[in-house]
Amino acid sequence: MTGRILLTGGAGYIGSHTYAALSEAGYEVEILDNFSNARLDVPDRLEMITGRPVTVHRCDVLDPEGLARVFASNRFDGVVHFAAKKAVGESQKIPLDYIETNCTGLVNLMKAMRAAGCFRLVFSSSATVYAPTLDWPIPEEAALGYASTYALTKLMGEQIIRATAEGDPRWRFGILRYFNPAGAHPSALIGEDPSDIPNNLMPYIAKVATGELPYLNVFGDDYPTPDGTGVRDYIHVVDLARGHVLSLDALMRGDESHIVNLGTGQGYSVMDMLKAYERACGKPLPHRVAPRREGDLACYYGDPAKAKTLLGFQAERGLEDMCQTSWAWVSRASNSRQG
Ligand code: WQD
Repeated sequence: MTGRILLTGGAGYIGSHTYAALSEAGYEVEILDNFSNARLDVPDRLEMITGRPVTVHRCDVLDPEGLARVFASNRFDGVVHFAAKKAVGESQKIPLDYIETNCTGLVNLMKAMRAAGCFRLVFSSSATVYAPTLDWPIPEEAALGYASTYALTKLMGEQIIRATAEGDPRWRFGILRYFNPAGAHPSALIGEDPSDIPNNLMPYIAKVATGELPYLNVFGDDYPTPDGTGVRDYIHVVDLARGHVLSLDALMRGDESHIVNLGTGQGYSVMDMLKAYERACGKPLPHRVAPRREGDLACYYGDPAKAKTLLGFQAERGLEDMCQTSWAWVSRASNSRQG
């Protein structure tokens, strides 16, 4: 498939991997980013991966005039929208900032798209829009809810898009609900690059492996799971990126809008991940059992069937590859924030 695509948040973790996947699939891709949570050298690294110049629009989704200028610069056939705040814990501390960036930013983007006659939108959503449940794997029809302001903004984002499309049939959207993204690009040139102490499991383990953090806190080992530690549906970021390509392909060929899980349907525990990472880095990793983290659920993984039926998407990479590519990324000295 071909077309010109604007990638908001395209310098970020999932955005940069999606840039590489879209470029490889034959799309012309441009990045819009304010670089508030992305390294400035990501476009250069993407140029090394794709072998082609990277067009970057330094712009904030809270800047309607800036967005209008970007859409005036080129005719885009579609937009993949990643630009948002995404830390669950932080969202509880600054909820209004999360609602403004994630919801007002989305409205600004969609108004700029509409003014430019661009009506194909792929939206980065999250499995956190599902209400806590004991029924796994979780299908798209499961009850929705939110346990954090971050999740609220993702749920509101979905409703904003669905209401807009119900009122104007020109819109076509792909809402993609991610489970737990992990891993890095095989080139080791892009990957997850948290600037502070990570909340998520894999980037935290990665910093233990590089020695930046002394040990992993295992948040509870008394859950009703096979080894007592939390179980999640980790999906390789390269598989996740390919899911975006397939979603956009569907919109470009005129398929109906879709809402799908992007997960593997396979649950792995904290200890599964830790042991896989020890195999990847070739050394034991210090860890200690800590109290459960507030709000955590025992087990959480998605039903991937609908993405396969509608988009032909199926995750191909497993936990070993997620850990190996993550280790290759973090252990490359030039990739450290100080590097
Ligand atoms: C995974 C498991 C923890 C850190 C988050 C957010 C959101 C979403 C997916 C985008 C749990 C355990 C973790 C640590 C640990 N992303 N853990 N020690 O909470 O499932 O979901 O990621 O929408 O960001 O909802 O992911 O990686 O924080 O935790 O034991 O230092 O690892 O208890 O069982 P989570 P996580």
